[in-house]
Amino acid sequence: MFFLINLILLLALFCIILIISMLWPPDSPWAPWWTTKPHIARRMCQMAKVSDKTLIYDLGCGTGNAICIAASEFNAHSLGIEIDPIRFFNAWFNVNFRYRVGNKVKLLRKNFFKVNFSDANVFFIYLIPNALIRLAPKFLKEARSGSLLISYTYPIPMEYYPKRLKLMEIDHKNRLYLYKFS
Ligand SMILES: C[S@@+](CC[C@H](N)C(=O)[O-])C[C@H]1O[C@@H](n2cnc3c(N)ncnc32)[C@H](O)[C@@H]1O
Repeated sequence: MFFLINLILLLALFCIILIISMLWPPDSPWAPWWTTKPHIARRMCQMAKVSDKTLIYDLGCGTGNAICIAASEFNAHSLGIEIDPIRFFNAWFNVNFRYRVGNKVKLLRKNFFKVNFSDANVFFIYLIPNALIRLAPKFLKEARSGSLLISYTYPIPMEYYPKRLKLMEIDHKNRLYLYKFS
């Protein structure tokens, strides 16, 4: 009985931490615990022609699944930036113990608005439209010419990215949108 009560308390605590974690990121009060599934991550890598020459910035990498697949199956290098401490810890575990790609994937527990984007040649993005709008001035200032941006689920609001961004491909089935910075 004592064991059962402890177990229930532990589960309740876990649920509370999970809920707090979902509300945590200051930049996206609505940021849910949605993750990119492996087949979507593979398709992202194919569309962006990811290779060992690629440096991916995953803005809000969550549990890091997409960049782990990019590293383990496509040999890509990545920087995963995640603000939420629990998701960051989950990503750290996935990178170092589940996929063992620590030599190719670096993680930053940080607000991506405070990271310079100019080194990236591919951006992975799975963010709500409001975040895509808020990111526009930063992308327009820092994204390298020729770099690719692949957005999952939400298309980029092009009116906020005048002239510099061009839509290259849409995969309607998987809700993937590929863009190029000029
Ligand atoms: C919809 S989830 C996508 C997670 C991951 N990219 C994936 O596809 O599995 C969005 C993620 O962005 C993170 N995020 C939101 N705003 C952020 C910010 N300003 N800096 C860093 N991470 C942020 C959230 O914590 C959340 O993990």
